[in-house]
Order: sequence, then C-alpha cells, then structure tokens
Amino acid sequence: MRAVTIPEFGSADVLRVADVAVPEPGPGQISIDVEYAGANFAEVLYRRGVVDVPLPFVPGIEVAGRVRALGPDTAGPPVGTPVAALTIVDGGGYAEVAVTAAELVVPLDGLAPGTAAAVPSNSTTAFLVLDRAARIEPGESVLVHAAAGGVGSQLGQAARLLGAGRVVGTVGSPAKAEAALAFGYDDVVLRDAPLAERFDVVVDMVGGPARRASLDALAPMGRLVVMGNASGADDVGVPANELWFANKTVTGFNLAAFAAAFPAETGRALRRAVAAAASGDLRLSVAELPLADAAEAHRRIESGRTTGKLVLAV
Ligand SMILES: NC(=O)c1ccc[n+]([C@@H]2O[C@H](COP(=O)([O-])OP(=O)(O)OC[C@H]3O[C@@H](n4cnc5c(N)ncnc54)[C@H](OP(=O)(O)O)[C@@H]3O)[C@@H](O)[C@H]2O)c1
Repeated sequence: MRAVTIPEFGSADVLRVADVAVPEPGPGQISIDVEYAGANFAEVLYRRGVVDVPLPFVPGIEVAGRVRALGPDTAGPPVGTPVAALTIVDGGGYAEVAVTAAELVVPLDGLAPGTAAAVPSNSTTAFLVLDRAARIEPGESVLVHAAAGGVGSQLGQAARLLGAGRVVGTVGSPAKAEAALAFGYDDVVLRDAPLAERFDVVVDMVGGPARRASLDALAPMGRLVVMGNASGADDVGVPANELWFANKTVTGFNLAAFAAAFPAETGRALRRAVAAAASGDLRLSVAELPLADAAEAHRRIESGRTTGKLVLAV
C-alpha cells in the first residue's frame, strides 16, 4: 500500500511516499481503509524527532474511512462502516490502511469523512482537556491560547458545550482574530498584550512567554492545563510556592498517553466529539491536500499561519 513515511528525522523535506506492507489487525484491533488523514502539529514533532519513534515511521494520529477488517475475537462496527479513528498510540494514519484499538474506532453518524478526519485528535482533546484535566464547572471562565488553530478552534466551542461562562481566546496576530471569533469566542485578544482579566481555566499549547502569562491569568482556585509547546520555546518552570500562596493548580494533558492508559474513556470522548460535529454543535473549518502533499501540510503547520485544520485526502 501507499504511505507517507519518515525515513529519518529532519525538516518536511524528509517525508517520502513509499510502498509498505498492509498492516493486519491483531486481537482487539480494527483495520481501516483510510479516506482522509488529519494533519497535526503532533506529526511535525514525530518528524523532527522530538518524540522518539522507530524509523522508518508512518506518522498520522487520526483517520476517517471504512472498516476493512476486525482482528480475531474483536467486537466493533461491521466491515464497510464509515468510521473515524484515533491512530495516536502507534501512528500510521498517513496511509491507505491503518490499524488501531477497537475502542478508538467510532461510526461517523452521517458526518462527511473529510470533516470527520479533523475530529479525533483536536475535538476529542478539547473535551478531555476541559472535562477531565481542568474539571470545568458550569459558568466558569476560560482562556484559550492559539484560539484560531486546530485545537484552539475546538476548545472554545467545547467549553461552551460543557457550560462555561465567558470564553476568551488569544491569537498571535490581528489577522487571526476574525477566524477565532467565528469559532464562538466572546472576545479575542493578542497574546502579547497585557491581560487584566483572570480566568478559572487557562489552556496553553503555545508555551514560552504564554505559559508564564497563563499562570498570571489564573483566578483563585484556577487551573492551567499545559498541553503543548507550539512556540518551541524552552520549558518554563512552575514555581510551586506560587501555587501554594495563590491557590493555583497546574495540570497536564497528552492525548497519546491518555488513550494508551484509558482507551475506553478516550473512545467515549471521541464518540461525543463525532456526535457534536455531526449535529453541528461543533463547527470545524477544514482545508484539504492530497496525501502526497504531506510535506506541504507540515510546512504550513510549522509556519504558524494556518487557521482551523488540514486533512490529507488518501
Ligand atoms: N496534548 C495533547 O494531547 C494535544 C492535542 C492536540 C494538540 N496539541 C498541541 O497543541 C498545539 C497546537 O496544535 P494544533 O493542531 O492546533 O496546531 P495548529 O493549528 O498549527 O496551531 C498552532 C498555533 O500555535 C501558534 N504558534 C505560536 N508559536 C508558533 C510557532 N513558533 N510555530 C507554529 N505555531 C505557533 C499559532 O497560532 P497563533 O498565530 O495564534 O500564535 C499556530 O496557529 C501543538 O503544540 C500540539 O502539539 C496537544
């Protein structure tokens, strides 16, 4: 089958379209004929070698397509069912066939596959970050960085669906403010501008100066969720005494580790995300490129200029 591989760590130029063996599902697994694969910042990190994976590696943490086969003694949607799936534990989504745990495969509920491929990573993460990591309560205020991005565009909407009060986003440039507002934020501010307001929940996937500003933006008993470092800045230490003196909490979330530890719960969150996207409660803005242009997708993601989500048509 055709797949995009990472033969060596490096820039987007290392990505290659190659012929590789079709993966077969083992016990508890399902294989999928992939129609679309989501393109994510996570795959850029795999390609750069930030996450150490055995080479050559087929990246791709999420797909949409049809069930191809169920592994031995495996329950799941019948062969041919349109599905969305997380392939985040072992990768392999940038390919004609992908395999993953049966718990991480859910029916599409009528959602178009080109949209569905954008749901498994970012929308599922949005619900889990707010519900499970931040333990959001009805009426609480939320601040989300990179609010026009893939996961940022989902976090504001998921917060609303979970009953949040005021939801504010930050963006890196004025050009992105309009896109973020279209995703339902009450207000969008420039990330570099001083922030007088305080929030019950702050979600930071940008890191660097934004992480320090996030700590400052916490209201008493506020929770900061650390979930990425898109800026590539050095790690920012958390002063423990500050948490003590000011009643602040810092917590972390990583979907790959969460899905490996809690596959059934991850599957339920994915089901909820697909249902919300299918009903229109969760809006997605999706741009499409062919699978062979995965390197171009990575360049666009790394440029920081994209809004919404990119998917690769397989
Ligand atoms: N922990 C998890 O489970 C999880 C799940 C999904 C995503 N993530 C993380 O969340 C972050 C965003 O992912 P995404 O899929 O939403 O990606 P994305 O759509 O490409 O968004 C990334 C955004 O980060 C901002 N940014 C700031 N500095 C940047 C830089 N030097 N290079 C590129 N972007 C920069 C940009 O927004 P502005 O222009 O507004 O600054 C950019 O649009 C990534 O770090 C990713 O690893 C984590």
